[in-house]
Amino acid sequence: MTPFFLQSARLELRHWTQANLPLAQSLWQNPEVARFTHANGSFSLEEASARLEGELDTQRRCGLQYWPVFLLSTQSFVGCCGLRPYEQRPSTFELGVHLLPEFWHQGLAQEVARRVIEHAFQTLNADALCAGHNPGNTASRKLLARLGFAYTHDAFYAPTGLQHPSYLLIRPR
Ligand SMILES: CC(C)(COP(=O)(O)OP(=O)(O)OC[C@H]1O[C@@H](n2cnc3c(N)ncnc32)[C@H](O)[C@@H]1OP(=O)(O)O)[C@@H](O)C(=O)NCCC(=O)NCCS
Repeated sequence: MTPFFLQSARLELRHWTQANLPLAQSLWQNPEVARFTHANGSFSLEEASARLEGELDTQRRCGLQYWPVFLLSTQSFVGCCGLRPYEQRPSTFELGVHLLPEFWHQGLAQEVARRVIEHAFQTLNADALCAGHNPGNTASRKLLARLGFAYTHDAFYAPTGLQHPSYLLIRPR
């Protein structure tokens, strides 16, 4: 089994491997997960595979990923949460969370995001984190507010072709 590298009360984060392709597909091909993050509302098989390749590549190049998340109690695959580089500012990373619908409404997104935020500020020495969401994604807006992100501006997001509200969380002093 792939070892975890971060843990919270109910969850653990591991690194994606090539062998995780079925998990990656189960997540990104789920229409409820991709509804707000993909222009067509869901990823094709090829797009889900390419997305996994992208995560593996970002880990190799930058030490970052939207890391796969598992329940500690059952080892069930829950989704992913992590960071990617933000081109405009090297010391800022972008935070993202994608959970399978059966794990929504339990505070798990909040729990895993808090652990990743702590990792970003305490271990990776980030100055700030940014995040955005589809304007129709109320769950994501509520999550970012609970995590303490502040709205900054609307920005064009190519995968959906929409203006997405953008947010920033500055490292606490
Ligand atoms: C965005 C997303 C991660 C939010 O997940 P979520 O489960 O709603 O988020 P939270 O962890 O903040 O959970 C909050 C809910 O859990 C409930 N909850 C239950 N137990 C809880 C606990 N112990 N602690 C905190 N909240 C708890 C809260 O009351 C709240 O309920 P509500 O949704 O009915 O208001 C999820 O909808 C998702 O994965 N969507 C698809 C992908 C996506 O769009 N990602 C965002 C773009 S990166």
